[in-house]
Amino acid sequence: MSQSRASMPRALMMGCGTEVPSIRVDNSMLARIMDTTDEWIRERSGIETRYYVEPGVSSADLGAAAARAAIADSGIDAEEIDYIVCATMTPDHYFPGAGTLIQERLGLGKLPALDIRQQCAGYAYGLQTVDALIRSGIARTVLLVGCDVHTSLMPVGPESWEVLYGREEGPLPPEILEWNSRFRHLVVLFGDAAGAMVFRAHDADDGRGILGSVLYGDGNRKEILYVPGAGSARRPWVDEAQLASGESVPVMDGRQVFKLAVTRMPRVTMEVLEKNGLTLEDLDLLVMHQANLRINEAAQRAMKLADDKVHNNIQKYGNTTSATLPLCFYEAREEGKAPEGSLVAFTALGAGLHWGSVLMRV
Ligand code: ACO
Repeated sequence: MSQSRASMPRALMMGCGTEVPSIRVDNSMLARIMDTTDEWIRERSGIETRYYVEPGVSSADLGAAAARAAIADSGIDAEEIDYIVCATMTPDHYFPGAGTLIQERLGLGKLPALDIRQQCAGYAYGLQTVDALIRSGIARTVLLVGCDVHTSLMPVGPESWEVLYGREEGPLPPEILEWNSRFRHLVVLFGDAAGAMVFRAHDADDGRGILGSVLYGDGNRKEILYVPGAGSARRPWVDEAQLASGESVPVMDGRQVFKLAVTRMPRVTMEVLEKNGLTLEDLDLLVMHQANLRINEAAQRAMKLADDKVHNNIQKYGNTTSATLPLCFYEAREEGKAPEGSLVAFTALGAGLHWGSVLMRV
């Protein structure tokens, strides 16, 4: 039986939750293990602190904790969830992804669990997937999780961790400092976290729910942000030579990513609004990916949006990749910036290149 678009249910966000690990790392702690300064990090990125997990705590662990918080916030019974979508670029294992691991940690019965990996745009892709699952009638109650443990990608050895946390006195030997400093433009930007939302099919004709999305991908831009090693393009997928040369660590041309983010995030936000017959004037809140405060300030200026229509929290958490959009939305909502009925755009750009914007009336 075909359904007219007007009669399709919308995906209404019922609840949102987050999980931030307990180890708070400020810029001066990173300066103990690499050639960087608090001043450089603040000026170039806006970041002041980020949070790290204890060793052994995985993306699925953080994701499950955020999911529990989102389920509690939504007031639904966890058993009602009939689909899980999980975005992460740092899954617990090469395979399987984190979706079923979260299902198992939550003690849920058998259900479809889909893993998506669009890096910093992962949660935006997840929102579109949730919208499609609910509109099509495939699912009625969907859990969307974004979780990333970037400390697992940090190429620093045990002695560096001891010095970073102040358990051992520095300085580190020059060769270790030099090795760590090779990755300073990346390491200082990232933190660990998870965020989750519960969506339910909403049949009322009140305009609430996910309204639409515009997403893009462009493999021609792969080289500006990717991990050269640790994949099927290599045989074996990872070996000591790759580890020794740093090829299992992301490569990033920060300036190129910056330039693309400041132009494409505003453009795609305006595009999704226009596609839904709306304008920037109608927007109550813009939640952007948090990769660099300067990127978001430039994007805000390009859209001429007032400060109360934008929320940034990169200062506290750094870039938490798939967790960023729900973590930022959660805080904005706590501050009263996203009351019921408000129009929110979720906009992101990241490795792939993937970018896009999703519109939701909360
Ligand atoms: N501390 C001190 N100095 C540093 C550091 C550091 N942590 N990192 C780099 N530098 C140095 C560089 O070596 C360079 O030195 P040089 O002039 O002697 O050569 C100088 O600072 C300037 O380096 P740039 O890379 O040109 O600095 P820039 O102002 O571009 O800032 C940054 C770098 C913060 C990475 C910025 O380019 C950025 O944020 N880009 C976007 C990142 C992003 O959006 N990533 C996408 C999301 S991630 C995802 O999808 C997984």
